[in-house]
Amino acid sequence: MTNKYKYFVANWKMFGDIRTINSINSVIRLSKSKIFINSKIIYCPPYTLLNSFVQKLKNTKIEVGAQNCHESKDPGPFTGFVNSKMIKNLKCKYVIIGHSENRTNGDTDNQINKKIQSALKNDLTVIFCIGEKIKEKKEKKTKRVLSGQLNKGLKNIKNIKNIIIAYEPIWSIGSGLIPKNIELLDNILFIKNVLKKKFKYKKTKVLYGGSVNPKNIKDLRKINQIDGFLIGGASQKPNKFIDIIKKTFK
Ligand code: 13P
Repeated sequence: MTNKYKYFVANWKMFGDIRTINSINSVIRLSKSKIFINSKIIYCPPYTLLNSFVQKLKNTKIEVGAQNCHESKDPGPFTGFVNSKMIKNLKCKYVIIGHSENRTNGDTDNQINKKIQSALKNDLTVIFCIGEKIKEKKEKKTKRVLSGQLNKGLKNIKNIKNIIIAYEPIWSIGSGLIPKNIELLDNILFIKNVLKKKFKYKKTKVLYGGSVNPKNIKDLRKINQIDGFLIGGASQKPNKFIDIIKKTFK
């Protein structure tokens, strides 16, 4: 049981079309209920649905974010990309940066750092993803990897208040596996400590992501130091998403 304020970020990845948008009606209803007092729901649909989500959620407390952005703060000849200014223009408040699926596709720490700088300049709140590979975990390199990603991704960043960290162990994403509570707590505290030392700021929110579902939320919610969840697959099924939110506070 927790009364702590929690984030529930729905990362729809490359799923969803204009017909799926009505599936979130039940989540909108939930957002008007008492349980919502302690929670912030953020939808991050694909670019093609961003504007529809913004319009649909206009008079609700649910917010909208993008899943990535280009690092250039100015318009330019970058076929297929969208920058943070364009995202802000749509009245989105958030952008996910550094997701492992984009790191795998070539995003470097340096590029991620530029994306974060440009998103902050455009007044977006950044959901900055970090996490280790299974090989790194087995070799006990998790903390080295996490601090490296934090230090490189947040190089020369001043405005830590507009950054939320999402700890997503790569081996946990879409696999049904989650870390043991004791390991997860240790890594969450480690991340918070690195940030505290680096920025002299204690309040950065750290979310957990990776196979969060209505079953394992009963274990995950016991870790009070987790400030919320970044949810992939289960967030596309409104019943599961609602179940996760309700069970977090039960
Ligand atoms: P799953 O919840 O599907 O494992 O995805 C996690 C994720 O990558 C969220 O960003």
